[in-house]
Amino acid sequence: MTQSALIQGGAGGLGRALVNRILQSNQFDHVFVTARDIRKIDSNDPRVIPVELDLRTDQSISDAAAFIASYIDKLHLVVTTAGILQDESLGLKPEKKLADLNRSNLETVFSVNCFGPFLWYAALGRMIRHCDPITVATLSARVASIGDNRLGGWHSYRASKTAQNMLTKNLSLELSRTNPNAVVVGLHPGTVDTDLSKPFQAGVDPDRLFTPEQSAGYLWDVLNRLTPEQTGQVIAWDGQTITP
Ligand SMILES: NC(=O)c1ccc[n+]([C@@H]2O[C@H](COP(=O)([O-])OP(=O)(O)OC[C@H]3O[C@@H](n4cnc5c(N)ncnc54)[C@H](OP(=O)(O)O)[C@@H]3O)[C@@H](O)[C@H]2O)c1
Repeated sequence: MTQSALIQGGAGGLGRALVNRILQSNQFDHVFVTARDIRKIDSNDPRVIPVELDLRTDQSISDAAAFIASYIDKLHLVVTTAGILQDESLGLKPEKKLADLNRSNLETVFSVNCFGPFLWYAALGRMIRHCDPITVATLSARVASIGDNRLGGWHSYRASKTAQNMLTKNLSLELSRTNPNAVVVGLHPGTVDTDLSKPFQAGVDPDRLFTPEQSAGYLWDVLNRLTPEQTGQVIAWDGQTITP
């Protein structure tokens, strides 16, 4: 049976490392890799099929889904890595206090971290709604945990990922009604040395700052050990379930 994987955000720090780890596994015949600019996808592997996708645009989402559907009927691994925490060009910074809230920044962060991934899954339709084993994993973050939140701040990032986790739970329930072999999870990659975390690495213990390759290796092990009983959960790089 042909096995197909789809990695959204394959030109990002973690996304690129995950694509390489997935290719090394030799488990997939097709590896669809999306980026907003497909020239940034640097793999020459013949299994890689680049797909242009901007999760903030409905037309881009439907075009990308139709493009993938022209190759395959079913996906077996779907990983979505899109995430935004700050963007200097937009004047977007993680908020330290309530007074820093700004509608435009909230909308941008929710659009990339929460709305986009789940509009993407909706557009994938029957490619993820089937009865074969399938794993759908969305990159979340430990800071999305309400139970674990002792510092506050980072309002839009935290809240967008918490809302993302709720949609993960909902999708897990929906798919499990027709496919007991579907596993839908959020993943926390640890603190990883990428563009996203660069401005916030000062206080991080060097032993706890992973390279993208290190984190992708941990996440790959987690993905391979997941069971349908874990569907709906958010799992960290070390395999531990994160408190909602
Ligand atoms: N790094 C960490 O310490 C850390 C910790 C916890 C959670 N995470 C999560 O891990 C995930 C990956 O982050 P990273 O560390 O690899 O950061 P990164 O290198 O900045 O990658 C961010 C990714 O988001 C994509 N993206 C941004 N806006 C998008 C849009 N409008 N449409 C489609 N894709 C968009 C980027 O795609 P382009 O290549 O097209 O720009 C890129 O692939 C994120 O969800 C992040 O929240 C990271």
